[in-house]
Amino acid sequence: MENFTYIVGDRTSAEAFVVDPSGPEEDILRVLRDEKLALKGILLTHGHYDHVVGVDKAEVPVYLSAAEALFYTPRAKQFIRTKDADKISLGALTIECLHTPGHTPGCQCFLVEGNLFTGDTLFVDAVGRTDLPGGSSKVLFESLQRIKRLPDVTMVWPGHHYGALPHEILGDMKKHNPFLACASIAEFKNYLG
Ligand SMILES: [Fe+2]
Repeated sequence: MENFTYIVGDRTSAEAFVVDPSGPEEDILRVLRDEKLALKGILLTHGHYDHVVGVDKAEVPVYLSAAEALFYTPRAKQFIRTKDADKISLGALTIECLHTPGHTPGCQCFLVEGNLFTGDTLFVDAVGRTDLPGGSSKVLFESLQRIKRLPDVTMVWPGHHYGALPHEILGDMKKHNPFLACASIAEFKNYLG
């Protein structure tokens, strides 16, 4: 269950977003302080409890997909519903939202300059569960086909450490992640078991 929390920072504006806060809040704030970055918002790939720690009391905008908000609504003061292809600015950076349902109905990935934050949609050696409420193996398969069309050099940063490496480029992942190698939904369902 080892979770990853990410901080995406822009050095020119000294601002940052936190992606999927999962650990102790003070640890995240300490890193922001050490890096001299001001927290500008929280980006959520989905609404499962282990990715939204402390979100309800956030003083900054919280971004979650509109589809996911039907199942989980943060109680943060500023809650922004995203949709596919939305772009969020962070100083000189642009963060693009990719709707990738399947693990949950409103899962999204964030694409930032060749870095893809995949939450529980895609792990280094696995994919997200589809047997939880709202999950769908057929829908996840389709989302993975979309991710596979991104450039092979895209660095994938997953929401959990479920693999030999913590993160990996998509091209290498395609070579050993059996779920990405599946050519059909039937084959994919077979691997999911
Ligand atoms: Fe999840």
